[in-house]
This record gives sequence, C-alpha cells and structure tokens, in this order.
Amino acid sequence: MRLHINIDHVATLRNQRDAGYPEPLRAAYACLEAGADGITVHLREDRRHIRDADVLALRAGPLPPGSGRVLNLEMAATDAMAEFAVQARPDVVTLVPERREERTTEGGLDVVGQRAQVTRVVERCRQAGIKVSLFIEASEAQVRASRELGAEQVEFHTGHYCDAPVQERPALLERLAAAAELAHTVGLEVAAGHGLNRENVAPIARLPHLVELNIGHSVVADAVFSGLGEAVRALRAAIDGALAAPRAS
Ligand code: PXP
Repeated sequence: MRLHINIDHVATLRNQRDAGYPEPLRAAYACLEAGADGITVHLREDRRHIRDADVLALRAGPLPPGSGRVLNLEMAATDAMAEFAVQARPDVVTLVPERREERTTEGGLDVVGQRAQVTRVVERCRQAGIKVSLFIEASEAQVRASRELGAEQVEFHTGHYCDAPVQERPALLERLAAAAELAHTVGLEVAAGHGLNRENVAPIARLPHLVELNIGHSVVADAVFSGLGEAVRALRAAIDGALAAPRAS
C-alpha cells in the first residue's frame, strides 16, 4: 500500500506569518524518512498554502525523477494548471474540483459533467509523460468516464464516509468497495483519501484493490501533539542556558 502524505497544512502554518518556517521541504524529508512512499501537495489557484516554488523545490530536493518516491500534484482541471504541471513534471497529477470559497476539497470531480475540459487536461499531462489520477465520488458513471477519457488511476473521496454517523458507514463502505471493484475491472488503479486518520483508516485500507492512500490534515494535527512537548523542552533549555551563562559586563 502506497502512503502519500499531504503536507499542505505545513505550508498553511508557514504562510500565516510568512516567516519562512515551518518549511514544507523539511516536512517532506521527515515524512519520507518515517516511511511515506510519496508526498502530495495541492497547488490551489489562490495559492493559499502550497506555492509554485514549493512544488519545484520538492522535485529538485527530496523527490527527484526516478527516485522511486512519488510527487503527487493535486490541481484543478484547468489549462493554466496543466501548463504548470508540464513544467514541474510531478510523477502524478491528481485532478480535483476546486472552489475558491471552500475550506477543503468538498466533493469529487464531475468527470461526466466536465468531460471535455477534463479530457483536455488529461491528454496534456499524459503527453508530457505524467500519470493522471482523478479524484471522484464512488459512482459507476464517474468511474467509467474516468477510464474512457484516459486516466490511469482514480482516487475515491472518503470524506463522506469519515464524516458519517457510525450506523451509516457500512452502506458507504459498500459503495466504495463496489466502485473499487469496478475501477479495477476496467483497468484503473485505485486510491482513496480525504478525512482519514488513525482511527478510521482500517476499513478503507482494506477496500478491494486499493493501492494508495493520501492523508494530510490528521497527520499534521497529530504531529502537533507528538512534537509540542519536545518543542517546549528545547525552548526551556535555550532560556535556562542563556540565564546560566555569565553575562558580559
Ligand atoms: N486526496 C485529495 C485528492 C485531497 O484533495 C486531499 C485534501 O487536500 C486529501 C487527499 C487529503 O485529505 P486530508 O487532508 O483530509 O487527509
């Protein structure tokens, strides 16, 4: 199972002050060292977290072509983003729906309704040798359309499953499993992501034919608490060290 960590929210924190830290690049190295198979970033049209330079730096640093580690670039299905992807050359482009006013990606891409535009972007990326994944709802029509227009992978949106009351989850899981079966049958690789964390990931990881998970927000949130104690200890040591040192007279 490939595990790709989405580091958008490291960039969110950096951008809040524009102080240059925490650096997404450093986060990428840490994730890879800890066992992630790749890094996922969403370059939004408003550049609210990840910026163009971050994507290029990830490619030049921890994720060079041919390294076996994956740079997965999530982006809207627009011609401008396709041109950026062709320059940046990630291993994979994941096309997602995007609305400026949303806080996070709220649903799957409507591959059926936006077929002409999605096809154009898929073709442009594939001509440049970039694998294309489409972030969609678990629906038969969306899976079939994804295959027909040339995608190699679909990523199922798991947000509804994660947000649903416990009694509604089995039906949603069944729907995801049926879509995963169909995707595999028509020759698509199967990924999943959105809203996943340590508590809810197990049933999703066991979906049939699933080969990849993309997880971000919960990892960055968990990292706050696994790192906060250490950060305070280091700060306390720096202050105590300063006070213990002789003062220049
Ligand atoms: N996969 C896709 C296509 C996404 O858009 C996102 C959110 O940017 C994720 C996975 C990760 O979702 P989360 O941050 O909730 O783990």
